[in-house]
Amino acid sequence: MSKWLAAVIPLAAVLFFMTPMTSARAAIYRRNSRELRRLSRFYDWEMDQNGLRPVGTSLKTARSLHLKKTCANDSLILSTIMAPYNRHKVPGGGVQVEVEVWVQEITTISDITSDFQLDIYISEMWLDPALAYSDLEPCKYNLSLNSELLKKLWTPNSCFINSKTANIHESPFPNVFLMIYPNGSVWTNYRLKLSGPCEMDLTGFPFDTVACHLTFESFNYNTDEVQMNWSPVGVELMREKMELADYALVKRFNYRNEVQYPAGFWHELTMKFVFKRRYGWYILQAYLPTFLTIFISWIAFALGTKAIPARTMLGVNSLLAMTFQFGNIIRNLPRVSYVKAIDVW
Ligand SMILES: *[C@@H]1O[C@H](CO)[C@@H](O)[C@H](O)[C@H]1NC(C)=O
Ligand SMILES: *[C@@H]1O[C@H](CO)[C@@H](O)[C@H](O)[C@H]1NC(C)=O
Ligand SMILES: *[C@@H]1O[C@H](CO)[C@@H](O)[C@H](O)[C@H]1NC(C)=O
Repeated sequence: MSKWLAAVIPLAAVLFFMTPMTSARAAIYRRNSRELRRLSRFYDWEMDQNGLRPVGTSLKTARSLHLKKTCANDSLILSTIMAPYNRHKVPGGGVQVEVEVWVQEITTISDITSDFQLDIYISEMWLDPALAYSDLEPCKYNLSLNSELLKKLWTPNSCFINSKTANIHESPFPNVFLMIYPNGSVWTNYRLKLSGPCEMDLTGFPFDTVACHLTFESFNYNTDEVQMNWSPVGVELMREKMELADYALVKRFNYRNEVQYPAGFWHELTMKFVFKRRYGWYILQAYLPTFLTIFISWIAFALGTKAIPARTMLGVNSLLAMTFQFGNIIRNLPRVSYVKAIDVW
């Protein structure tokens, strides 16, 4: 009996003391390893004399970063940056606005009204330090927004000053793109349908070229406040070749002028397109038929002097045919008062 007791009591004592101790230790281990697992998700680890620590960071910053694991979502960033924002305040002195144009399509060139129509994407980029949010631990390193928010931001108020019409594509919503970067860079992009003026010089018609240009500038701000620049891309075509029914684009360039107005100097960004008329149609429809008509009228000489009615008929017919032919071509041109190449012919 006493033997049996002697065996059981120490065992019971061991069990009595061990059970709570192991479970407490297990809890500590569990907590630590959970913590370790969580931390090790973010960092590489290395050993030094103080024990295990994340590579390249002190344990303190590792902990504070770890505690701020919840990043700022878009709505939180927006509400934070927009609350103190004043859209009438020009961001800093001399905002640099970088402009880039992508030409999607050139649809028409009208000889009568001397204008052309095109679809473009125009993109502007500037820095607005009041919109910087890099200190907020953003979840995403760019904010993509719509035109509603753009109305609440400062913009350079730039426009095409020589366009005849300009419309933002609206289907199914305004085609406006707005992105804000953590450093406060604002990037906007519009899809526009524009028509602008062309300079036509018909003296070489139909072997002439047409130059069309559009000028973009900030409407409200002179160079003290806004400086406009072409981006390195400048004007780019989205299609390999821009060919219309009767014109082909041969050259394009872009440049910047500084122009003086009563209220100061303005930067004007101009893009210019040069088109060459495709004269194939005129060869077939004007030069060849009139050449044949003249040729046929020479038959009159072969008819001899006695065939008066036939000769008269031929002469008058040729004259009518020619007048009709030219009338057809001239009808689609503006009524200029100088002599064109085709008139000489
Ligand atoms: C954004 O974060 C805030 C605060 O952290 C939260 O209240 C809100 O629900 C979040 N919004 C979305 C769309 O996740
Ligand atoms: C915006 O951020 C996302 C992820 O953060 C990235 O994939 C995308 O390329 C960025 N877009 C631009 C235009 O910078
Ligand atoms: C701001 O960040 C964007 C995207 O990373 C970059 O393209 C732009 O040049 C930066 N702007 C400035 C002024 O550093």
